[in-house]
Amino acid sequence: MTERTLVLIKPDGVARAVVGEIISRIERKGLSLVALQLTTVSDEVARGHYAEHAEKPFFPSLLEFITSGPLVAAVVEGPRAIAAFRQLAGGTDPVEKAVPGTIRGDFALETQNNLVHGSDSPESAEREIALWFPGLS
Ligand code: PPS
Repeated sequence: MTERTLVLIKPDGVARAVVGEIISRIERKGLSLVALQLTTVSDEVARGHYAEHAEKPFFPSLLEFITSGPLVAAVVEGPRAIAAFRQLAGGTDPVEKAVPGTIRGDFALETQNNLVHGSDSPESAEREIALWFPGLS
């Protein structure tokens, strides 16, 4: 079943120049890019994107981080794309959860600066794609 997922290469990924490496892993897995954009996200879109975490203690810091500089937003498509990208990304905590061979396991050390975001469900993917790429059909 073909699915779409929203992928972010967060500001730490752009600053550390691992965008090409991450996109290469997505493509090598067999997933396709449907949309791709380098952008600096507004506070409004960032709040919408992370709305479900608004009550978490790390929310202010997460907002500051995600708006801190340019990031890459992409729509990625393929069979089971949501789970496939989350497998590529590895767990949220790059040391305790992400294993070597994953993006976070190979390139990150801190939970906040964990390089990538991927939608966690079909409902989240639909909502996030509409938020980041409102013109995409
Ligand atoms: S939680 O707490 O289970 O809801 O966390 P999780 O779903 O794994 O993560 C949600 C997003 O919040 C980020 N996160 C954090 N940022 C800063 N500090 C801490 N402690 C922290 N914990 C989680 C995490 O990277 C997730 O971001 P995205 O962009 O969705 O991957």
